[in-house]
Amino acid sequence: MNKYIGILTSGGDTPGLNAAIRAIGKAAIREYGMTVIGFRDGFRGLMENRTMPLDRKSLSGILTIGGTILGTSRHKPHKMPVGGKIMDMTDVIVENYHNRHLDCLVCLGGGGTMKNAWHLAKHGLNVITLPKTIDNDVAGTEITFGFDTALGIAVDAIDRLHSTAHSHHRIIVVEIMGHRAGWLALGAGVAGGADVILIPEIPYDVNIVAESILDRSRKGSPFSIVAVAEGAISREAMDRITELKKKAEKTDDKEEREKLRQEMKEIDKNSTGKTLELAKQLEEMTKLESRVTILGHLQRGGTPSAADRLLATRLGTACADYIKQGKFGVMVAARDNETVPVPLEEVVGKRKMVPSDHPWIRSARLVGTCLGD
Ligand code: F6P
Repeated sequence: MNKYIGILTSGGDTPGLNAAIRAIGKAAIREYGMTVIGFRDGFRGLMENRTMPLDRKSLSGILTIGGTILGTSRHKPHKMPVGGKIMDMTDVIVENYHNRHLDCLVCLGGGGTMKNAWHLAKHGLNVITLPKTIDNDVAGTEITFGFDTALGIAVDAIDRLHSTAHSHHRIIVVEIMGHRAGWLALGAGVAGGADVILIPEIPYDVNIVAESILDRSRKGSPFSIVAVAEGAISREAMDRITELKKKAEKTDDKEEREKLRQEMKEIDKNSTGKTLELAKQLEEMTKLESRVTILGHLQRGGTPSAADRLLATRLGTACADYIKQGKFGVMVAARDNETVPVPLEEVVGKRKMVPSDHPWIRSARLVGTCLGD
């Protein structure tokens, strides 16, 4: 019997999304004779029943295009802004799914999307997800599509910053995206030969960073590139958070626990994204002029790299196979050279951070890069 499938993209856009949509759609239509539609703007469009046909024509010519032809949003089914209020729209979404006689909903997204998809799976929808994000922080998969392209953009930026930092004898602090994980900053820092790399997984001591820059100066290199992840945090702030966490674990007083939690949240919020402040501190401590470059959304734009096109196509075509086999409630993950269906409950609520024994960390240390610790 002909199967009907819906596709949506949710969360921050990522190069490779269109390659994935194309792969799912083409394989589903050509190989399995399925009918495919796209929902616009993520779960918002699913709730509002806004669709576009995904047929041979609309799936053609999109492989190399950045962004997502479907549009995206960060709206959640159970917390949707409607008429000035935040509403649980799960029932409307479930109804729309059934009214369209869908056999499966494919959600392309990162950690937040996995949660939302799992929420809908628990409400009886046949759901499959594909892991996309430039942050590479989705649990259960070795890699997410979008990461390689963003990595290339960040490396290119560091390469360009090198010559100007060198010419002016300056410190250039370059802020790299990645949300709470350090994959992008670490990868770009190592590949771009940054002198200092600061990531959330390794809280930094600004004195150690300044000393490493001064040491380079003394040895004849009075310039430095500092690659800092947007989620990087100082040792001081981290120690304070750990202290509060311990206190919260010990107390039986609910109110006190909540107060401590709020305090932790506040410190956390105020301790990341401190790139401008860090550059100023380093300038004062080293007496070297400093400049800041925040790469921001540049890292998410443009055409996907060959590696991302390959990954998105591989995961997308495997997704069509799983739909045919009736394997639902799973994320299509990349492991070694295989694709594996990983149950969504194993993915949801987890963030894949850079492990302390990761080879990139060891290599960075061995070539003399300061990691701030
Ligand atoms: O998750 C992808 C990402 O680009 C993160 O690296 C970044 O923290 C966030 O999205 C930015 O979100 P927005 O596009 O909503 O500003």
